[in-house]
Amino acid sequence: MLSEQMNEALNVQANRELYSSYLYLSMSYYFESIRMLGFASWMRVQAGEELVHTMKMLDYVASAGGRAKMLAVEAPQLSWASPGAAFQHVWNHERAVTGLIHALVNVAIAEEDEATKSFLQWYVDEQVEEEESSDDVLNKVKAAGNDSAALQAADRELGSRRFKFPRDFEIFPYAALQGRTIGSLKK
Ligand code: FEO
Repeated sequence: MLSEQMNEALNVQANRELYSSYLYLSMSYYFESIRMLGFASWMRVQAGEELVHTMKMLDYVASAGGRAKMLAVEAPQLSWASPGAAFQHVWNHERAVTGLIHALVNVAIAEEDEATKSFLQWYVDEQVEEEESSDDVLNKVKAAGNDSAALQAADRELGSRRFKFPRDFEIFPYAALQGRTIGSLKK
């Protein structure tokens, strides 16, 4: 059973994950507006991953006997000065999220809540990957600078990114309870 404080802290972090999804969706439409469709697609995958981060956290709250609450989501920025500025924003944002996840782990430690601490390890590991990938794309876009051919090449490369659900995440849990897996629904 979650303490009230742990429950609230998880709800607040789920809201930040949803904000991340909203932010990346905003970046996706910004890139679409400047016809950089590979970057737009990359951001759309990123937005999908953040929605999974949100739901995974709220599912945990519900399954641990807490109450998942939908809090108001802040409106994100709508446009950026350049592709490089948008990817710099991603980099900064992911580092800030890592700090929030580590603070959340500290709440679990203070509450002596081993189950939540163990659950949060997935997010700690995920942030290592998120930081690596934001670093990688920022370097690519920075290297391209204002060279339009190099930017187009980076745009094409980032457009190849595909969305994958985490192995242990079930987006339609009721279907799973009825013995129908996502795989069988697709057939
Ligand atoms: Fe879910 Fe990119 O933090």
